[in-house]
Amino acid sequence: MPLPSRALDPAAPDPILGLTEAFRSDPRESRVNLAVGVYVDETGRTPVLPSVLAAERRILEAAGSRTYLPIEGRAAYGAAVRSLLFPIGHEVTTAGRAVTAQTPGGTGALRVAADFLLQTGNPRTIWLSQPTWPNHPQLFRLAGMDVRTYPYLDATGRRLDADAMLATLRTAEPGDVVLFHAACHNPTGIDPDAATWRAIGNVAVERDLLPIVDFAYQGFGDGIREDAASIAILAEAGLEFLVCSSFSKNFALYAERVGALTIVARDAERAEAALTHVRIAIRANYSNPPAHGAQIVETILCDPALRDDWELEVAGMRARIRGNRAAFVDALEASALPGDWEPLRGQRGMFALLGLDQEQVARLRREFGVYVVGAGRVNVAGFTRDNLGRVVTALSAVLAH
Ligand SMILES: Cc1ncc(COP(=O)(O)O)c(C=O)c1O
Repeated sequence: MPLPSRALDPAAPDPILGLTEAFRSDPRESRVNLAVGVYVDETGRTPVLPSVLAAERRILEAAGSRTYLPIEGRAAYGAAVRSLLFPIGHEVTTAGRAVTAQTPGGTGALRVAADFLLQTGNPRTIWLSQPTWPNHPQLFRLAGMDVRTYPYLDATGRRLDADAMLATLRTAEPGDVVLFHAACHNPTGIDPDAATWRAIGNVAVERDLLPIVDFAYQGFGDGIREDAASIAILAEAGLEFLVCSSFSKNFALYAERVGALTIVARDAERAEAALTHVRIAIRANYSNPPAHGAQIVETILCDPALRDDWELEVAGMRARIRGNRAAFVDALEASALPGDWEPLRGQRGMFALLGLDQEQVARLRREFGVYVVGAGRVNVAGFTRDNLGRVVTALSAVLAH
């Protein structure tokens, strides 16, 4: 049999990573990449964190064995991940009712979560915010789930519409899965406040829903501990839920593919039973996880001095992101561009959604070499003193006519 005919009909490039390829081959020196969700410093580089280098030196000196890891990764890594999700002494961890599996990045965690749920007979429907990270719909669809969406933004596109979101979630069927972004919502930068999280928790309990919490930017919003507040609220509501952590951004370990799936269950017995099925999902997919990146994260989180260093490094990235966001809003307002830009100032994480149409996004790229995603999602970390003015000028041009 030849290859299936659909395999010979080329697919569209990935909406985010595909743009990076286009950016690399753009010859214009003035080009600006605000598309991909990677932290960059003022020189446009993605630095290796000093805490990561220190951890790597230790790992190299210890020269441990390269035999396979356990299917779910090392127990110490799992405990370290949970120490990021829950405050010390939290009942979820002391009761042993959370289990963790190491995964290749946050994406790996999401896919293992989907496989685990389908393989154990959970209803197939998953609800995603509209909009969401563009990889979510295809990831869950290709895993075999039915994707539905709940509204997220109000008509201005600048604020959360909590009432509309909750009203739609009340129509979900028992057992349906609902995906939330723990903090630093991608692509909007808009997160529910604590009261809204409590309301979300109540609806999930009333309707018997199963949340998956995607946690890709812990520490990029208000702080490492503060960004995990949503997780504690869902736990307090009495829910069982899954958390998909990514350490690509907050440890700057992108290429090492480090993440984790944590399952919070009603009691330790249920959690351990769930882990036995997660092991099967992993074994049938990539068998067991890669060691290096997770060893770095474990080394840092288990050493108090290295952990302090890392927390300071994350605080540094967060401060730069916030400073850039404020500078961007100041520049938009100073340029008298039509539009209500002020709400962008209070948003969290690397992204701001400008609400552009396809033609405006295409013109930014074609005429000005400014690369943004979808409906005008910009990575504010990508601004530098050198390029901010150029981006605002380009935006003025495409918004004017
Ligand atoms: C919302 C969200 N979830 C998950 C991921 C996946 O992260 P990773 O690169 O660790 O797979 C990303 C990365 O951009 C993301 O933005």
